[in-house]
Amino acid sequence: MPIQVKICDTPDDVARAAASEIAGLVRQKPDAVLGLATGSTPVKTYAELVRMNQEGLSFSRLTTFNLDEYWGLDGTHPQSYRFFMNHAFFAGTDIQLWNTHVPNGTAVDADLECEAFETRIRACGGVDLWLLGIGRNGHIAFNEPGSAPDSRTRLVDLTKSTIAANSRFFERVDDVPKQALTAGIATICEAKRIILLATGKDKARVVARAVQGVPHSSCPASFLQTHSDCTFILDREAASEVSAAFNS
Ligand code: PGA
Repeated sequence: MPIQVKICDTPDDVARAAASEIAGLVRQKPDAVLGLATGSTPVKTYAELVRMNQEGLSFSRLTTFNLDEYWGLDGTHPQSYRFFMNHAFFAGTDIQLWNTHVPNGTAVDADLECEAFETRIRACGGVDLWLLGIGRNGHIAFNEPGSAPDSRTRLVDLTKSTIAANSRFFERVDDVPKQALTAGIATICEAKRIILLATGKDKARVVARAVQGVPHSSCPASFLQTHSDCTFILDREAASEVSAAFNS
C-alpha cells in the first residue's frame, strides 16, 4: 500500500494535523494505545496535545509506548527519552504515568527488557497509532540502515551519523551513548496505523527515498511502504522532493 502523503504549509500546521489525528482516535477510543517518538520534530505536536488536554480532552485512560531509549541512561538523566517524554508531554496532561512505557535504559539485562517491552505491547492489545520521526539516514526509532524488516525490540549500536546528529543535545559528542534499546521495524509495523512527521529541507531527500524508493534496509523508513495504513505528514520543505503522484 503506498504511503499516504499529507503536505502542510508550516511545521505548526504539521503539529496541528498530527495532534488532531491523535485527538480523533482518543475521542473514538478513550483507552487507545499510542506509540510515541522523541526528537525535535514531535515537540510541537505534544504541545498541541497538552493544550487540547487542558481544554478538556482526557488522556487519563491512554496507554503509551515509546520507541526507544539510550542504553546506559536512566529516566532522571536530562537527555534520556523518559525524561524528555515526562517533560515534553506527560507532565502537562492527565496521562497516568504508570500507563506510560519507555524501554528501561538501565535494565540489568537488555534482552529481558526488550522481551518484556514486546510482551507489554501484546498484553495491551497492540498499538493503535504509532507516531514516528525519521532520521536523515532513513532510520525510524534507532533502526539504523541495515536493520531488517523483521527486526524486533533489541539493543543496537548507533551509527556515527546518528551520534553526531544527537550530539547537539549533549555537552560533548563523547557524552552521547553509543547504544540504545529500540523497538524493531516489525514491532512498529504491527501498529494499526502509523503517522510519520518530518519538517525542514534537510529531511527532503530521505523522505522522498522512503516514499518512492524500493523498500530496502539501506533506508529503514522505506519499509513503511509495506504497512496498510501509513501517512507521512510533512511541511512543504520536507515534501519538496516527493513526486506529485504521491500527494494525497
Ligand atoms: P528529529 O529526529 O525529530 O530530531 O529530527 C528524528 C529521528 O532521528 O528519528
